[in-house]
Amino acid sequence: MNKTLVIIKPDGVERSLIGRIVSRFEDRGFKILKGRFETISTELANKHYAEHADKPFFNELVSFITRSPSFVFVVEGPEETWSIVRSMMGKTNPAESPSGTIRGDFATELSENVIHGSDSAESAVREIGIFFPDFNLD
Ligand code: RTP
Ligand code: MG
Repeated sequence: MNKTLVIIKPDGVERSLIGRIVSRFEDRGFKILKGRFETISTELANKHYAEHADKPFFNELVSFITRSPSFVFVVEGPEETWSIVRSMMGKTNPAESPSGTIRGDFATELSENVIHGSDSAESAVREIGIFFPDFNLD
């Protein structure tokens, strides 16, 4: 699997970080495919974050990700692109993310951490299917 789903979350779009974040992926040598703005619906957010449905932070997570437009796109690169993208993002908690990573450079809060990236090849297939159901992954 050489593609992965990336979302610049509402905080990142509100703060005009799209260009700088997309540039990092282009600088790394990846191709950006299929990008679009989307105010994620509650239904889509529930599906996308289904693995967290039982967590205490789930409601806050869904209301955050649906509050204003996100920029959703597919990143294409070598095999296991999802893994390289995750390492460029830093840790889930920006406070634990080193400078040089996207969360380490652009975020301070766990609940508003600027970017989402698929966390496995299986997640990438699933999430590209959620946001771009017509995308041909063959
Ligand atoms: P994402 O799915 O958004 O890319 O983030 P991630 O893989 O790094 O982290 P994940 O475990 O999937 O969590 C999804 C989002 O939920 C929020 N979160 N809050 N309060 C908490 O303990 C907690 N844990 C996670 C974060 O905003 C995280 O990005
Ligand atoms: Mg996740």
